[in-house]
Amino acid sequence: MFRLPPVLAQPVASWAHLYSHSTVASTTIVFLHVGALVVGGGLAIALDRATLRHHHRDATARALHLAELGSAHRVVLGSLALAFASGVALMAADLETFVGSWVFWLKMALLALLLGNGALMNRVELRLRSDRDTERAWRLLRPIAVASIVLWLAITLAGVALASAA
Ligand code: HEM
Repeated sequence: MFRLPPVLAQPVASWAHLYSHSTVASTTIVFLHVGALVVGGGLAIALDRATLRHHHRDATARALHLAELGSAHRVVLGSLALAFASGVALMAADLETFVGSWVFWLKMALLALLLGNGALMNRVELRLRSDRDTERAWRLLRPIAVASIVLWLAITLAGVALASAA
């Protein structure tokens, strides 16, 4: 059986009680969680699609796309931070269920892969901005974009599976 450190036991119990008795609290947290996915995931997938449709030999389109990718990272990372904060609140509302759920840990593993893939994308972009090895770098962006789309959708599926299990 999962045991919380005593210093956390009381605040987590109070939060779980509030969450299960207040529609405002549960609606707000689930909205923040799903809202972060709609904004961050939506923007990320739209740019991944643009990467896959992109004809990298057109210098103007290349520069525009790189600028778009660069400006989107802050919004996507901000959304992920909100998904994380609201996710911890969702998890704390029924800790024993989620800590014991393999779906939850699979979701966390997929999230780590998504962050790693994002860091790789950022490194390739930096290489492109410094005009180093551009043909190979543009080719590398395509599988990274495919991985991003698959991971966002897989994490969402795991999230919905968690909600149905809760
Ligand atoms: C890319 C990031 C994430 C995405 C796209 C995502 C997506 C989702 C979705 C779509 C749901 C179903 C919401 C519902 O129908 O009620 C969900 C539920 C859940 N998520 Fe996430 N999530 C993300 C990150 C996280 C993180 C970082 C955590 C924990 C630290 C987390 C914990 C949970 C929990 C515990 C539930 C179940 C809530 C419940 O129904 O009681 N999620 N997530």
